[in-house]
Amino acid sequence: MYVVMVAPECAPVAQAGGLGEVVFGLSRELEIRGNAVEIILPRYRCMRDDQIYGMSVSFRDLWVPWYGGAIRCTVWFGFVHGRKCYFIEPHSADGFFERNSYYGDDDDALRFAFFCKAALEFMHQAGKRPDIIHCHDWQTALVPVLLYEQYQQGGMWDQRVCLTVHNFRHQGLCGEEVLHATGLQPAERFWARERLADDQRPGALNLLKGGIVYSNFVTTVSPQHAWEAQWTDQGAGLQETLHQHCGKYGGILNGVAYDVWNPEIDPLLPQTYSADDLDAKYGNKKVLRDRFWLADAYKPIVAYVGRLDEQKGIDLIQHAAHYASRNGAQFVLLGTSTNPETNERFHRLKGELNDNPDCHLELSYSPELAHLVYAGADILVMPSLFEPCGLAQLTALQYGTVPVVRAIGGLCDTIFDRDFSDRPWHERNGYMFHQPDAPALESALSRAIGLWHDFPDQFRELMATGMRQDHSWSGAGWHYLNVYELIRQKC
Ligand code: GLC
Repeated sequence: MYVVMVAPECAPVAQAGGLGEVVFGLSRELEIRGNAVEIILPRYRCMRDDQIYGMSVSFRDLWVPWYGGAIRCTVWFGFVHGRKCYFIEPHSADGFFERNSYYGDDDDALRFAFFCKAALEFMHQAGKRPDIIHCHDWQTALVPVLLYEQYQQGGMWDQRVCLTVHNFRHQGLCGEEVLHATGLQPAERFWARERLADDQRPGALNLLKGGIVYSNFVTTVSPQHAWEAQWTDQGAGLQETLHQHCGKYGGILNGVAYDVWNPEIDPLLPQTYSADDLDAKYGNKKVLRDRFWLADAYKPIVAYVGRLDEQKGIDLIQHAAHYASRNGAQFVLLGTSTNPETNERFHRLKGELNDNPDCHLELSYSPELAHLVYAGADILVMPSLFEPCGLAQLTALQYGTVPVVRAIGGLCDTIFDRDFSDRPWHERNGYMFHQPDAPALESALSRAIGLWHDFPDQFRELMATGMRQDHSWSGAGWHYLNVYELIRQKC
């Protein structure tokens, strides 16, 4: 099958969060299974060009219709760790992608609408005829709308579109200018409730909603979150749309790229190890402790790795730092936020904990350090308020670091409580709490810390259980191929 991913991110070249890892990991898995995959991305100024191999111009003058005129683009081609990627660079006065960050500007909806239009124009003009176009999140949700309304009418093209929603909270709300710019006319057609008009905010168009309505299939990144988004406020106002389209909607759990995240062969680790050789994991713990100046050698290390977003439960992360260090454990954090207030708050916390020999906060993100933290820690804490899938808990399992998570979204599909789950023993791989509050977090964290101190053999058993489970892309790759087949056959 020939699949084109149209995405706002792809690891490691352009990545703000987990979406980038998924686009890379899924593309790779599909290729391993014998499919042809290409990825189309914006050419951001802030992306990591050093991660692109053999960059060259693929299409010099791509004219993309825009506001009745046209904008000239250059399309670049290069390999990102073996994946074929195209990068669209518009030569517009607004410098759509010449910014210092990927998202967060007032004209985000307009610039990503442009990207959608340009991606389709590129495929069309370059004679590409993929079987499937796979879009990700609101930034690319206009692709199925434009495809159906402007390219498929008259049977010009019969590509099928799968849209994966990684985050329902970001929907791309915008005004009518997007319709004028992209030539979606007459405007009234798209203001209809069953098309792009937002259900709750009169006067706003909702690009993600449009993507859900027009795609041939919609997925989110875990079965539990698919249910939550349809039936609870986790759908962020899109519940009704999901109900209306439930026949083409479901959840597919993400995987982890095991060639990048594998403690048996990880070149970034001081010592590689496996479930049968856990002693070597402690060599990494020693290096982590030295690097972060943690004094006591006889305590479990509780870690948080990842973005410091509201979504991740930042109050509870902060609480975990205090609780762990006062209750027989050490705490390390590796992460940063795009929100200056949150960064400032964690810098304050770092200052408060400066003299605490059992805590270290590293307020930046370095992939190399992330490998060391996953390998060196004993426990990973993830108190998310919502979590469509979550990749950190899957990575932690792979590295023998026991996850302590809140029971929400993809965390429910992947972590089973050692003490209270009704699953068989070989599936119980961590600890879980339900309420998003401090007592609930403490009860789960204390059980994990307690097991480490009181029953070290059982704790090792729990570590090894997680390491033996399979969260590679293999299962997800198979599910996505089934979806592709299904929508290809449906006319
Ligand atoms: C988003 C979600 C996260 C998910 C990731 C990849 O970042 O918040 O739960 O794992 O996308 O799908």
